[in-house]
Amino acid sequence: MKGSGFLFLMRMDDRMKTIGASASYILQQIGKEKPLVGIVLGSGLGKLGDHIEEAEIIPYRDIPGFPLSTATGHKGNFIYGKLGGKTVVAMQGRFHGYEGYPMSLVTMPVRVMKMLGVEYLFVSNAAGGTNPDFQVGDLMIIKDHISLHPNPLIGPNFEEMGPRFPDMTCAYDLELIAKAEKIAAEMGIRVQKGIYLSSPGPTYETPAEVRFYRMAGADALGMSTTPEVIVARHCGLKVFGMSVITNRCNTDNVTVNHNDGEDVVRAADAAADRMTELFRRLIASI
Ligand code: HPA
Repeated sequence: MKGSGFLFLMRMDDRMKTIGASASYILQQIGKEKPLVGIVLGSGLGKLGDHIEEAEIIPYRDIPGFPLSTATGHKGNFIYGKLGGKTVVAMQGRFHGYEGYPMSLVTMPVRVMKMLGVEYLFVSNAAGGTNPDFQVGDLMIIKDHISLHPNPLIGPNFEEMGPRFPDMTCAYDLELIAKAEKIAAEMGIRVQKGIYLSSPGPTYETPAEVRFYRMAGADALGMSTTPEVIVARHCGLKVFGMSVITNRCNTDNVTVNHNDGEDVVRAADAAADRMTELFRRLIASI
């Protein structure tokens, strides 16, 4: 990968320069083995990082060109090591549009991971449940998404990464979904499957918005993930996504049961071990 990184340097635009600088720095810090899987850990789900063996931890603040994660429940470390017997890189904390970052920065780490050599991207998030069958603490395999963010591919196409008009018919890999369902059954854990809708935030949804999104087919609502998945598909990564249902979305203007960020992180933390084990087994199966 080091060699091909240098080839990229010869014909890169500024975006490639920034991504190349981050990737080169990370390459200097990590072991020789190319990572197979990149993992993005959402709010309260950073615990998975503690299960990575032979871990090398690189704080975002040390990586040239890397933004800093300011969101609640996001640690801000890049972790290289082994999970499920495979070499992985995990992001303990991600970047959101609501923090003020442009979509190019929100999605930049995915392109850095692509340059490091990953072939798969596993994404996770905390989400509110709109499907009446969902309970707080459920894991939901993302089977499709609705993205209300500005599309991160707007602008001159990044030719080195992928095509102008990427297909999104199977954004979430069907084979990984089938394997994950099988693994969840073996583990004896409750797992849902549904559509994740992402809006820019940082406000939680009004009850009218919740009803509107539910009518549009959303099972879970959040404020992240879809921009990263779009960029991952653009550069040909296979994607697996999982939401942890941390709260139920209000469909009426009740005065109790307000959403708040701390509750979300607490509920995600309680589900993180189950998600970690499912990810570990799924990565082992690749
Ligand atoms: N809405 C949007 N994002 C979220 C929610 C929610 O209810 N819960 C956790 N992240």
